Amino acid sequence: MAHNDWRKSVVYQIYPKSFNDTTGNGEGDINGIIEKLDYLQYLGVDYLWLTPIYESPMNDNGYDISDYYKINERFGTIEEFETLISEAHKRDLKVMLDIVINHTSTQHEWFKQAYSAKDSQYRDYYFFRKSSDGQPPTNWESKFGGNAWQYDADTDEYYLHLFDVTQADLNWDNKAVRDALYDMINHWIDFGVDGFRFDVINLISKGEFKDSDKIGKEFYTDGPRVHEYLHEMNRRTFGDKPMMTVGEMSSTTIDNCVKYTNPERQELSSVFNFHHLKVDYVDGEKWSNAKLDFIKLKEILMEWQLGIYEGGGWNAIFWCNHDQPRVVSRFGDDSTPELHQSSAKMLAIVLHMLQGTPYIYQGEEIGMTDPYFSDISQYRDVESLNAYRKMKQDGYAEDEIIEILGQKSRDNARTPVQWTNEANAGFTSGTPWIDIPNNYDVINVEAAINDPNSVLHTYKKLIDLRHNNDIITYGSIEPLYMDHNELFVYKRHYQGATWLVIANFSKESVALPDDLNIDGEYIVQNGEIQHNILSGFGAVVIAQ
Ligand code: GLC
Repeated sequence: MAHNDWRKSVVYQIYPKSFNDTTGNGEGDINGIIEKLDYLQYLGVDYLWLTPIYESPMNDNGYDISDYYKINERFGTIEEFETLISEAHKRDLKVMLDIVINHTSTQHEWFKQAYSAKDSQYRDYYFFRKSSDGQPPTNWESKFGGNAWQYDADTDEYYLHLFDVTQADLNWDNKAVRDALYDMINHWIDFGVDGFRFDVINLISKGEFKDSDKIGKEFYTDGPRVHEYLHEMNRRTFGDKPMMTVGEMSSTTIDNCVKYTNPERQELSSVFNFHHLKVDYVDGEKWSNAKLDFIKLKEILMEWQLGIYEGGGWNAIFWCNHDQPRVVSRFGDDSTPELHQSSAKMLAIVLHMLQGTPYIYQGEEIGMTDPYFSDISQYRDVESLNAYRKMKQDGYAEDEIIEILGQKSRDNARTPVQWTNEANAGFTSGTPWIDIPNNYDVINVEAAINDPNSVLHTYKKLIDLRHNNDIITYGSIEPLYMDHNELFVYKRHYQGATWLVIANFSKESVALPDDLNIDGEYIVQNGEIQHNILSGFGAVVIAQ
């Protein structure tokens, strides 16, 4: 990291299972990450966030942890992880771990002891509850489908799982749980990691267990003691160390996120929220097929930009992660090589000029696309497979389901990184655990490095600009032309300087508003402006 303010950083997210396989078993591994550190240094990012690499039955690809202290042998050994950290540090790269502490796997020792044993000291580590009428304690829905309570027949009680039935929610109101989790975090700090991403961390404080007329999230989202717990965790673990933290926030609010991240409150450095990635849901329903609502996308992004900035908080900004479809397929256009390139670059520019910490998800920097799977047998993700079954039950036609999964499934992001145009995209010498899109012959890292006009070179430039121009990090933001149907326009202001950002979300060229002054120094240019007309998917950044 060439600078010493974490706010100027760019984070690269690695999903190890799909990153790079060195053993030939079809799944990525820690040595595979080490092998690519030179590439990541070349790209210029500062932090690497690894999704969970701990021991896990992998029902949710590692978000179901059975031992927080052990490395999953499918990924490698603790020594290899140590090497990864030291090799990363040699290249000025920092490493963030993913901490999943809203729940553990039901294979975790705590849960194994707690299950079916009312008098176990671990029983109260989880939420076991009685029910009176043969029904689960509440009617809440699990985020992966079905009721959120699972029956424990031996004790005639149910346990809570907001996610998969093998992911049991931890009881943070129990001090012993919090102490054990803080010890574990301190263990990884001592081990040498540089930061943490906290999984669904705004769900840790449960309120009342009552029936809901929705899915129940009002009872546990940004719950009653969540700020108290995060402050306590900060004080007891990373708070006085130079570490960057980011909390994943499910269905949260700006007010809460200001509280989570305003440094005076000593909770977290930054937050992810997902409101801008629900603009292609129908009435809030993910498993639906809808086009992007562009005006809404702008409104949400800008509301968060302004709200968090004014409250003295800090946003993480992103289009992609391991739970989201690929942005070029989603909000851009991957139907021809030209549209693919121009829309991927436009999306990168418009995001990376925003205020906050940008996250790049592996493969995004070369414009990886959704795979467009044609058969349910190609899917692996527990959430997608549950949704498939549910849609079947609800009478959807197979074609329709495949189309919806093709638009929304998390597996869209989980296909292996396309390194080269060789067999299996250079990801593995074996059979990949999930199919690879056919376009790897054109879209791959090697080709992107060699082509100075590739999407990759736009990402490299944007990262470099952020490191070298304080206006991108610290400047205020001014939204413009918010009801324009094709253009995303805003200005950044800092210490008397102004940068204007204009992006065309349509594949057609668009006339710029007459009163928009486009004079100045062109810092970034994708496409062209001629006679005040910006080309399809064009994007420019102008210093004025
Ligand atoms: C987060 C993770 C997701 C996981 C879920 C449950 O949303 O990003 O992949 O399934 O939490 O841990």
